[in-house]
Amino acid sequence: SDFGKFGPLVGSIDEGTSSARFIIFKINSTEVVAYHQKELEQKFPQEGWVEQDPFAILEVVTTCIQKAVEQLISLGGQAKDIIAVGVTNQRETTIVWDRNTGAPLHNAIVWLDMRTTSTIEKLLDTVPNKTRNQNYLKPLCGLPLSPYFSAVKLRWLSDNVDVVKTAMKKGTCCFGTVDTWIIWNLTGGPSGGKHITDVTNASRTMLMNIENLNWDPLLLKFFEVPKSVLPEIKSSSEIYGYIADGPLKGIPISGCLGDQQAALVGQMCLQKGQAKATYGTGCFVLYNTGDIRVNSSRGLLTTVAYQIGSKNPANYALEGSVAIAGAALGWLKDNLGLLDSAKDSQDLAEKATENGSVIFVPAFSGLYAPYWRQDARGVICGITEDTNSNHIAKAALEAVCYQVKDILDAMNDDCGIPLQLLKVDGGMTANALVMQMQADLIGINVIRAGFTESTALGAALVAYWGIESNPQINTIHMTSGTIYSPKISDDERDMRYKQWKMAVDRSLGWEQ
Ligand code: G3P
Repeated sequence: SDFGKFGPLVGSIDEGTSSARFIIFKINSTEVVAYHQKELEQKFPQEGWVEQDPFAILEVVTTCIQKAVEQLISLGGQAKDIIAVGVTNQRETTIVWDRNTGAPLHNAIVWLDMRTTSTIEKLLDTVPNKTRNQNYLKPLCGLPLSPYFSAVKLRWLSDNVDVVKTAMKKGTCCFGTVDTWIIWNLTGGPSGGKHITDVTNASRTMLMNIENLNWDPLLLKFFEVPKSVLPEIKSSSEIYGYIADGPLKGIPISGCLGDQQAALVGQMCLQKGQAKATYGTGCFVLYNTGDIRVNSSRGLLTTVAYQIGSKNPANYALEGSVAIAGAALGWLKDNLGLLDSAKDSQDLAEKATENGSVIFVPAFSGLYAPYWRQDARGVICGITEDTNSNHIAKAALEAVCYQVKDILDAMNDDCGIPLQLLKVDGGMTANALVMQMQADLIGINVIRAGFTESTALGAALVAYWGIESNPQINTIHMTSGTIYSPKISDDERDMRYKQWKMAVDRSLGWEQ
C-alpha cells in the first residue's frame, strides 16, 4: 500500500478552554503515533469577563498540527497517511467575524464569561405572561436561560458592539462556536471556507430545535438573531470539506463533536444508560439516553450526544455541567499562591488532618447544574483556628466531587434507574485521592479509563466513521482502567453531603 510504517492514521484537533492538542492516532485504535499540545491564553478584561483572541485559537491549533506532523515524519510516517481529521472543541464560546475578510469582529466570548447577566434579566422580561420563567425555552432547545449559552452572548454582541450590529444588518457577519471558526478557516476562510457546525455544538447555542435539529424560527426571533449569520448544521460524522493549506492540505475534515460529547464517544458510552464525567477546566457529566430526549425536572440539560452520518437519527444525552473544577486549583495557585502547580493539590490534601470539615463552594461564575443560579458566588465555610492551606486545597478538590454527586442524584431521579458505575477522564482524574473521594461521595464504582485522552479519541473515531461508507461503530478495544470503590458508610456520606448543601445555601444571593 501507499501508507508509511504506521498504516492509515486519523488526526484529531482538540481545542479546549486552557489548551489545544493535535493527536495522530492509528485508525480505530487508542494507539497514539504523534502528539503536540499548546497552552491557550485567556483574557479577563473586566470582572466576570473571559475572552480569547480568535486568531490565537487558530494559532495554537495550526502550531499543534505542524509540530505533531513533524514528529510523525521524524518517526518514519508521512502526512498523507492521515486519511481524515476530526475536530472537537470547548463548547458555547462565541465568535463573530466578517465573511469577506475573515477578520474577527470581537474577541471570542468564552463559555465561562458572566457579562450577560444583565442580558438574561432583559430577556426574562420578554417571557410571556410576566412569568420570568428561566425554563421557558427548555421544551424547544433543552436549555435554561443562562449566560453560559451562545445565543445570549451573541445577543450581547449585537446589542453592545456597533461593528457586529452593522455587519449583521449588512449580512456580512458570520457567527460560530469554536468548531465552526476552526473548520471555516482550515477549509479556506474567506476563499471558500465551509461555514458549518455539527448537531452537538449547535445544541449548545439555544438556537437549535432539539427535536428536529434545525435552527428554530421562534428561538431566532426570541434572541433577535438573523438567520444569515448562522452556519449550516451537519451530522457529527460526514465530510464537511477539505483542508486548504499547510501540511494536511487536501485531507478531509469528516468529524466534529463538542468536547464533552467527544469524551462520551471516546469513553465508549454508546449505549443508553452509560455515563461519563470529564474533569477539565469545568466538569461535565453526560448520560446517554439513546433516542429519547429526557426532559429533566431537576435542572439537567437535554443535549445531542452525537449523530453518526446525516441519514442516522441523533442520540441524546442528559448533561450536568459544573463551571469550576480544575479552575479552582488554578485559582488556589495563581490568586492565593497556595499551590505551585495543580498537581501539588494531592500532596496538600493528603496532609489535611481529618478533623476539619471545611467546605468550599467555588461558585465563581454562579452555579450551573442543577442549581442554575447566576447570583451565586464562592464561599468557604467551616473554618476554625486549626484550618490551614491543606484543608482549603482538599476542600477545592472535594467541591468537584460534591457537585458530581448533586448531578448524579438529579440524573437518577430523572431517569429512574440509578447509575451503577461512572466512567471518568480528564486532568483531575490522575489524582487518586480525588477519585477515591468521588467514589465515596457517590457510593458507586468510579472507573478511570486506561486511555485518558477520551475527548481526542472521540473526535478521531467520528472522523474515521465519517469517511467510511459502512462504519463499524463500537468495535474499538480499550485497555482496562483503574477502579475506585466507595469506602465510607451511608451515614457518613449523608452527613458530609448535608454540610455541602448548607454551604451551597450560603453561596446563593450574593449578586443581584
Ligand atoms: O461547555 C464547556 C466545555 O465544553 C469546556 O470544556 O474541557 O475546556 O473544560 P473544557
